Amino acid sequence: MAENIRVLIVDDLPETRENVRKLLQFEPDIEVIGQAGTGEEAIEMAQQFQPDIILMDINMPGIDGIGASQKITELIPSVQIIIMSVQSDPNYLRRAMMAGARDFLTKPFGGDELVAAIRRVHDKRPNIQLAQPRSQRAYPNAPAAEVQTIPEGKVLAVFSPKGGSGCTTIAINVAVALARRGHKTILVDGSLQFGDVAVMLDLKGMTSLADLSERGEIDVELISSVVQVHKSNLNVLLAPPRPEMADVISDDNVKNLLESLRLSYDFVVVDTASYLTEKTLTMLDVADRIILVTQQSLPSLKNVSRFFDLTESLEYDTEKVWLVVNRVIEDQGISVKNIGDILKRPIVMTIPAAESLVSASANRGVPLVMGANQKHPVSISLIKLADYARRELVGKQPVDGKVKSEAQKESGGIFGRFFGKREQAGG
Ligand SMILES: Nc1ncnc2c1ncn2[C@@H]1O[C@H](COP(=O)(O)OP(=O)(O)OP(=O)(O)O)[C@@H](O)[C@H]1O
Ligand SMILES: [Mg+2]
Repeated sequence: MAENIRVLIVDDLPETRENVRKLLQFEPDIEVIGQAGTGEEAIEMAQQFQPDIILMDINMPGIDGIGASQKITELIPSVQIIIMSVQSDPNYLRRAMMAGARDFLTKPFGGDELVAAIRRVHDKRPNIQLAQPRSQRAYPNAPAAEVQTIPEGKVLAVFSPKGGSGCTTIAINVAVALARRGHKTILVDGSLQFGDVAVMLDLKGMTSLADLSERGEIDVELISSVVQVHKSNLNVLLAPPRPEMADVISDDNVKNLLESLRLSYDFVVVDTASYLTEKTLTMLDVADRIILVTQQSLPSLKNVSRFFDLTESLEYDTEKVWLVVNRVIEDQGISVKNIGDILKRPIVMTIPAAESLVSASANRGVPLVMGANQKHPVSISLIKLADYARRELVGKQPVDGKVKSEAQKESGGIFGRFFGKREQAGG
């Protein structure tokens, strides 16, 4: 039989604690293991009893519920916190989520609502495994000859200046292919507002990038408590569950996060949104390589060409950007050769179009590079792209140093950098 869900109730009012306890007393799988009347007491009892769930009041004298939640999440990442408050103000919700809370109950609530929240949060708790240093083989079943340790993890960003070009499809499949080759790999959904990775990998998690924001030091333990583990062994850091929570993550958080992840993983693959914001640009800056996705259409090429202009202004090394043509149909649209000629860049990979196969894979949440379709030409191209990354990056130094992004950052954001450069050139 499954173990009981062990719950700690935290509220400064004894009657409230008692009411909550009564609401739970007839649930066969839920056990109230204790009650705390202050934030300090909650922190102490959480450490001592390691409950599965804490029901936490916000307004308490001394350390309030948000402060206590933050401390508890830091100390015991396995504990899931549900905030209880009379306020349903979105600011409260945001602060609570930033402090690591998983759900929010507005008082007064009924027994059904409470029990449903406890079961939901408990069911979706992250699979906490202590991360190992990269040097310890993460994938014991991978063929030994396939695995080579990389001195410093590489960040691969997948970007297109035109929405719907296939970035998420490519990011997911390249990341899964790298993981299946035995590299310790994490996929980060950097499309912070409307990320599709969770759906396309059929992952249902409560934890996301928002749980790592505002944390100074991001260590392996904290990362492990927040990532989802896909059946391919790929680790995944999802976008926040609600679009408004994207704001919780600052540009500095993004940089700090990616730099921390490269210490724990061989490959950090970042799926990005096509809208160029300071945050997206930070992801591109930190990246060792950018997989730039285009299609065989004029609007797509126009945007890609403008993006290349921007990369020159930003002084990205030409080697940093890998041009990939997706959804290729022979004898249709602008030919692949013409694309190379127009953009004056080599094309690193072409991925054929396969409408129903690609959309079925996304809808079923099964990546193309695993399962029944891995021998299909689309899957083969995606695996080849992953192998190209391994060949090019394993054991090589970044072409575009992180030192530069620091300097660039100081010069005042994307537009400041762009115009600063123009002025220097006398334009
Ligand atoms: N090689 C391909 N052949 C056919 N269809 C494809 C291919 N690659 C992607 N698609 C389809 O194109 C659409 C967009 O793909 P995807 O979501 O990966 O792009 P995106 O660049 O991440 O889009 P968004 O801008 O919405 O984030 C999806 O419907 C997907 O099924
Ligand atoms: Mg996408």
